[in-house]
Amino acid sequence: MKHRPESGNTTEKSVVILISGRGSNMQVLLEAELPCCRIAAVISSKADVPGLDIAMQHGITTQVVAHRDHPDRESFDAALAATIDLYQPDLVVLAGFMRILTSNFVAHYQGRLINIHPSLLPSYGGLDTHERALRDGVKIHGCTVHFVTPDLDHGPIIIQAAVPVLMDDTPATLEERVLREEHRIYPQAVRWFCSGYLSLEANGRVLLNRMKQPGAALIAPGLE
Ligand code: GAR
Repeated sequence: MKHRPESGNTTEKSVVILISGRGSNMQVLLEAELPCCRIAAVISSKADVPGLDIAMQHGITTQVVAHRDHPDRESFDAALAATIDLYQPDLVVLAGFMRILTSNFVAHYQGRLINIHPSLLPSYGGLDTHERALRDGVKIHGCTVHFVTPDLDHGPIIIQAAVPVLMDDTPATLEERVLREEHRIYPQAVRWFCSGYLSLEANGRVLLNRMKQPGAALIAPGLE
């Protein structure tokens, strides 16, 4: 993804990324060199997180809108939206952004706010997704990119990746396997959006006019 501050290319989409911590999804987006995308800023809900250092090393404008500086969700979201809107983004990308957003905020970015979540939604919204999947004994787990709606970790699904859950998995090994797939599907979703292949229809459905459909089943454990 290109991240120079200004561009003469009017077809390029402006993207703002929101983070709260490590920033590995943000990093793969920065390093993907996606055509048609320009990262205008990275905004963190926490100061001093590793993701901010990574963004700065990539020469990206960074901002902190700390949730701790605000008495309630409404005032935090208003400050966050005011900061985001300085960059007039076509797309706002939640990349490990760990705050619950108000419905006013979500409505303001309707159709241009996407999130990545470490489970195959609608299963395992919320926290501790890998622990919960292991506890339930599911054999297939994964990650989801979706448009954000006021319902936490719900919303029209853009792309998912599934991974097998192995007999000796721990939450950490499963997280690692899922995160690898997050790093593959998030750049894909952002590229689709910025290339104009992806949109959210008025009826709430995802419209994607570039889709390979290999159709192979993922079976775990595998057939013998
Ligand atoms: C990622 O696994 C992401 O899917 C998850 O937080 C992690 C952030 O990692 N997001 C959520 O749980 C949102 N509900 P990162 O900061 O290294 O990208």
